[in-house]
Amino acid sequence: MKITCYSFITAIVFSLSTAATAVEPIRVVLEFVPDIDNGRRTFDICARCHLPEAWGNNDGTYPQLAGQHVNVLMKQLLDIRSGRRVIPSMQPFVQQRTIGGYQNISDVVAYISTLPMNPAHGRGPWPPESAEYREGGELYEQYCASCHGAAGEGNNELSYPRLQGQHYSYMSRQARLVRNNMRRVKPSMAALLAALSAEDFDKVLNYISYLPLPQADLAPSAAWRNPDFQ
Ligand code: HEC
Ligand code: HEC
Repeated sequence: MKITCYSFITAIVFSLSTAATAVEPIRVVLEFVPDIDNGRRTFDICARCHLPEAWGNNDGTYPQLAGQHVNVLMKQLLDIRSGRRVIPSMQPFVQQRTIGGYQNISDVVAYISTLPMNPAHGRGPWPPESAEYREGGELYEQYCASCHGAAGEGNNELSYPRLQGQHYSYMSRQARLVRNNMRRVKPSMAALLAALSAEDFDKVLNYISYLPLPQADLAPSAAWRNPDFQ
């Protein structure tokens, strides 16, 4: 497996170029061959919040990390490290003096990607038989599927997050942050969310929370515990 890391470098190039020179940013791609054993050791600190299974909590305090695309995890970690994405409780744990350099970050990301997903993540209030669910599905297809994929599978290459399997309350909070311009993402997605009525907003996130997951990505049961941390 190789993990690519480029957003950080792009950001530096942006800050070196001035508005007057309008230099095209040069995208430098760094590739790491990760060391999973080192990633497991590094994950110890993450597990205190995200839990050893990397499943987070159904109440949405902590996101599920298991199953997320490596490029998405990498981008989020670099954004949180630099403060571009503001998470005060986590930020100290992803600094040079705590987690170290990019090699360690790519190792922990590679370790997370070996973990199976929670088969019982947090769902929204309207089950698949409901009208709200159906309406949410139509909204999803119309507004979200072009980036996040028809099944919510996301896109590793383009760093579009996988939404399948994410806790409903976590997604609602993130989507609210995005809508209120408190989390920087693609402006087109922020505009989309801002244009939805409050009911449609809830319905589309509810729908996403019921998107089925490939069986092969799931742990055998919700009682599964990560043997690396026993
Ligand atoms: C002190 C608790 C804490 C620790 C330790 C911690 N995190 Fe987090 N992390 C959080 C919280 C809280 C959020 C979600 C914040 C929000 O709701 O916006 C988060 C979000 C994330 C996200 C973004 C996920 C997404 O899909 O949006 C990633 C990736 C992540 N953490 C990885 C890690 C890794 C890897 C480590 C270990 C190096 C770690 N975290 C350590 C609390 C923590
Ligand atoms: C133009 C492409 C695009 C469209 C359309 C789009 N998104 Fe996103 N979405 C993204 C990207 C890119 C991110 C990750 C942003 C980042 O890097 O922090 C994201 C992040 C998210 C997140 C946070 C995930 C996490 O793990 O933190 C949620 C929730 C979300 N999108 C929901 C939606 C919903 C609901 C719709 C439809 C109404 C939608 N998105 C439409 C590109 C898009």
